[in-house]
Amino acid sequence: MKEIKVDLSDRSYPVLVGSDCLDHVEKYYPDSTKRVAIVTQKEIGVEIPSGKDYKIFEIETGEKAKSIETVIELCRSWVDWGLTRSDIVVGLGGGMVTDVAAFAASIYHRGLEVVNVPTTLLGMVDAAIGGKTGVNLPEGKNLIGTFWQPKAVVCDVDTLQTLPEREWKCGYGEVAKYHFLGADDMRGFGLIDTVLECVKVKTRVVAEDERETGKRAILNYGHTLAHALELENEFTLAHGEAVAVGIRYAAEVAFLLGRIREDRVAYHEEILNHYGLQMKLGKRINPERIISFFLRDKKSKNGITFVLDGDKGVEPVLVQEQNILEKALEVVQ
Ligand SMILES: NC(=O)c1ccc[n+]([C@@H]2O[C@H](COP(=O)([O-])OP(=O)(O)OC[C@H]3O[C@@H](n4cnc5c(N)ncnc54)[C@H](O)[C@@H]3O)[C@@H](O)[C@H]2O)c1
Repeated sequence: MKEIKVDLSDRSYPVLVGSDCLDHVEKYYPDSTKRVAIVTQKEIGVEIPSGKDYKIFEIETGEKAKSIETVIELCRSWVDWGLTRSDIVVGLGGGMVTDVAAFAASIYHRGLEVVNVPTTLLGMVDAAIGGKTGVNLPEGKNLIGTFWQPKAVVCDVDTLQTLPEREWKCGYGEVAKYHFLGADDMRGFGLIDTVLECVKVKTRVVAEDERETGKRAILNYGHTLAHALELENEFTLAHGEAVAVGIRYAAEVAFLLGRIREDRVAYHEEILNHYGLQMKLGKRINPERIISFFLRDKKSKNGITFVLDGDKGVEPVLVQEQNILEKALEVVQ
């Protein structure tokens, strides 16, 4: 088992990556802990060894359930059970669970400690680390949320054994992203080393810019189109699938803007192909609707901000050429 620190002064915490390591979760409970609220979903079926009084709180699956209503229900059932400020919440699941559980923990009694135990590849390489919590509104994804760093993140790759094929693909959508954010070439790495490499990049970026005032935005590589496609398709499209299409799209926008050459676009395709990811949506994309989603995206300041590849690597860029944003959609439909 390896440990990587997220360096955030008094909010620093470890990310553990290994196999058969769920018994480490308990050691991050504060001494005051009497009760452990484990937030999870029925289909996950992972158990955490616990000597404490614990209770499982199951939430529904899917982005529609990633809502403020779910958070309120959770908080109300915690009150019923008598969870206090000196207890702890464990988010045991994919990114949806850890986002919801940590958000609820961050506002319950004005803030309760949380340990994240991701059970999807996407959760391990991305969602469970970095302290962004939140839920969706009908108007958009993750529009309500907090920054609330966990006490620890425990990634046990054994929990991935039951992960459906589609969810692996979703995780690999995010893994592919890290190839453009300074990770080593992970093709040929085993699973634990792949997770570790992604965690290293994520923790480095988060440590530099905890609150996304600058550099952290690069973690959204491929995500501007991804979020729009998820909304357009009413969340029937999985996040990682949308990210893969979004990465190919971002490469095309960068190419049309003259920021990268054809060989770099080809490298994007090579990486996406390596992970068996679809780069095309397989149906027509309505440009006007997609652009309207872009304009609404919370990451847009004074125009449409895209995270794009270029000579200096991936960085946020203000794109004013709407015709290029529309034209680039042609390669991904
Ligand atoms: N906070 C962040 O920084 C951040 C970053 C990236 C993504 N996210 C969020 O993460 C979410 C996506 O996360 P996700 O891809 O993990 O999806 P998810 O949490 O919705 O899980 C996908 C499906 O896999 C099931 N599942 C989870 N673990 C399983 C297991 N071990 N075995 C069998 N089934 C299992 C879940 O029940 C669910 O049906 C999105 O809501 C996205 O906004 C957050």
